[in-house]
Amino acid sequence: MENKAPLVEMKNISIAFGGIHAVEDATVDLREGEVVALVGHNGAGKSTLIKILSGAYKRDAGTIFIKGEEAQITNPRDAKKYGIETIYQTLALADNVDAAANLFLGRELMTRWGTLDDVAMESETRKVMGRLNPRFQRFKEPVSRLSGGQRQSVAIARAIYFDARILIMDEPTAALGPQETAQVSDLVRQLKQDGIGIFLISHDIHDVFDLADRVVVMKNGQVVGTASTKDVTEDEVLGMIILGKCPPGAVPGPGALQTAAAA
Ligand SMILES: Nc1ncnc2c1ncn2[C@@H]1O[C@H](COP(=O)(O)OP(=O)(O)OP(=O)(O)O)[C@@H](O)[C@H]1O
Ligand SMILES: [Mg+2]
Repeated sequence: MENKAPLVEMKNISIAFGGIHAVEDATVDLREGEVVALVGHNGAGKSTLIKILSGAYKRDAGTIFIKGEEAQITNPRDAKKYGIETIYQTLALADNVDAAANLFLGRELMTRWGTLDDVAMESETRKVMGRLNPRFQRFKEPVSRLSGGQRQSVAIARAIYFDARILIMDEPTAALGPQETAQVSDLVRQLKQDGIGIFLISHDIHDVFDLADRVVVMKNGQVVGTASTKDVTEDEVLGMIILGKCPPGAVPGPGALQTAAAA
């Protein structure tokens, strides 16, 4: 597996707003079927870093590789061409129409007579949802009536239907209750099995250890370190977040605290 090029490599990425270095010399990567969590305090640069990958922000420096080849990503359309989709906490769903209408919003399927093909759209939606969230049955209802977790599955189904290979989830469970959070966790596991790579931004350290294969800690725009979740403890990751202290199980980044004495 190690000799295969990663799905995503972001190398030496920097961006500043005015005088603020929102992201400075950050390097992260993501493999197929892998969940990489991005963690850190408010303002650490997590959202900014992934907005560079999704084409929402233009970086000042650095290079992005997709499957080993340099990628030109300067706007969200470019990102979609590379199979990169983002699920935000504030979901961009049309509340007053059903799941199928949301799935195909702006990309509707038409009959040969030029009318909306509602039958085909519902059938496609049932197919994707059946794979993603088999318990979902509320196909005939406007999404405003769905729970937060069900709305998440509609948004994810939309990304998957249009061939997302790289999914960015920016605090997908921040507004959800425990049951709905569990539902989104199930979705993430399903997507992993399908070989989709996921960058997961989360403030919930338990979620991170539950779902992520690796964790990247950011502080003040810099990467403190990267670790397999099996090589570090929750306390050690908290130490990285709060103090910038890199434990032995992690690979230090430019933001790691430099200590004079070895631990
Ligand atoms: N569009 C912008 N204009 C100016 N400053 C920005 C902009 N976007 C982000 N920043 C600044 O960049 C820094 C990093 O912010 P970012 O939103 O990436 O942090 P974050 O790690 O996602 O935090 P949170 O956990 O609160 O979401 C902050 O200082 C923020 O104020
Ligand atoms: Mg953020």
